[in-house]
Amino acid sequence: MATAKDIEDKSVRKIKTPETLRGMKDILPDEQIYWEYFRDSAKKIAEAYSFGRIDMPLLEDVKLFERHLGKQTDVVEKEMYVFEDKGGDKITLRPEATASVARAYINHGMLNLPQPVKLWYQGPMYRYDRPQSGRYRQFHQYGLEVIGGPDPVVDAQLILIATKLFDDIGVKVKVEINSIGTATTRQEYKIELVAYARKHRKQLCEDCTRRLARNPLRLLDCKQTECRTIMKDAPQIIDWLDEDSKKHFMGLIEYLDEISIPYVLNPHLVRGLDYYNKTVFEVVPDRGDDAELGSQSALAAGGRYDGLVEQLGGREETAACGFAVGIERAILEMKQQNVEPPALPRPDIFFAQIGAEARRSALRYFEEVRAQGFHVVEAFGKASLKGQLEAANKTGARFTVILGQQEVQDDTIIVRDMDSGAQETIPMEQMIEYLNKEMKRK
Ligand code: HAM
Repeated sequence: MATAKDIEDKSVRKIKTPETLRGMKDILPDEQIYWEYFRDSAKKIAEAYSFGRIDMPLLEDVKLFERHLGKQTDVVEKEMYVFEDKGGDKITLRPEATASVARAYINHGMLNLPQPVKLWYQGPMYRYDRPQSGRYRQFHQYGLEVIGGPDPVVDAQLILIATKLFDDIGVKVKVEINSIGTATTRQEYKIELVAYARKHRKQLCEDCTRRLARNPLRLLDCKQTECRTIMKDAPQIIDWLDEDSKKHFMGLIEYLDEISIPYVLNPHLVRGLDYYNKTVFEVVPDRGDDAELGSQSALAAGGRYDGLVEQLGGREETAACGFAVGIERAILEMKQQNVEPPALPRPDIFFAQIGAEARRSALRYFEEVRAQGFHVVEAFGKASLKGQLEAANKTGARFTVILGQQEVQDDTIIVRDMDSGAQETIPMEQMIEYLNKEMKRK
């Protein structure tokens, strides 16, 4: 017997329950309806366009990202979770998946397959960034990658798939596109851009002053109003493109026009990772012309990365293009635009029981009903019929079957139609046949 003193001690001894780490979230059952809706739509569209699913490890050799995402990008410089494993190897939780897909393409000799190779993935990514709405340290991406296809038709079809996916989940979006040319032309452009920004150095925000020296292209997508005003008149990367990139970009635009995909040319669109060349694009919410979108507005982003496979040791000039959707952001936007995912189907039957003996039999009959293919639910943890009927109402089950002491003795069961409230007692051996018949009638 616990004494008053014990009880007092228990209430005083407060144990601090660990919380999830900052920037990481549990996805609770109520939320899953959105996740499932997104994942179902995403899987369907990937399969409809003949992408094969690939799953890569969450842990990778740090070199995979350090060398190829760009040493001076935010992701590599500040955001990777890097640590040594017990064998002394330097490893990282993947901050993104494109480099892993390119690695897998080479590792598994996929260049011997008919080209292009089309792969899709989904799963968690990790970036040690400052968490805020739409930005987390563990977040999930759904991505499509096409490796071995140099024609802009690939870029156009990927943009089409991205818009179709958002259309399927009922989210209105806009696509912004740009071309950032090659590493060489970008270098020339950066000199012009820095010269321009230096003239306005005093008005630039702290981040941009730092970017001036380290990563000048990012000056273009600063979200601070004053920086944006200055950058409006900055030289545009599109004027620095080489002939091949220009031709590619014109090709992309023609394809998009051909398939009537609306797009916005955004000369300030640059991406946060260094492997991109030629096409870059982002998908942002379309909430009407005047709506101010926050800094975490991109629902999906991608582009061409023709040099990555070669840099990782694959065949020279392997062209590639892809994009990834931030699933948390897509779901936030579904809620913002009041998209209701389709409700889960109503269960067929709720199984109620009264008394210890009935509960024992109910456990067994429940399995019998389930084995017949019915969607059956229960609340065996509840003893009172009232509590169980309340639970049955909440689930929206079409029928409730009730097994009490009397029914166990008589080998019968009560079947209650939850819509009409009518109920009938039937012999236990006829239960399945009766339910089948009633279910068909509904
Ligand atoms: P990214 O722009 O870094 O590109 O990420 C793609 C999308 O992931 C973003 O548009 C955003 O929706 C989501 N995302 C990124 N960081 C976070 C975060 N901290 N919290 C929540 N969501 C986030 C890539 O990762 C490239 N691998 C995309 C790609 C695929 N390019 C070619 N193929």
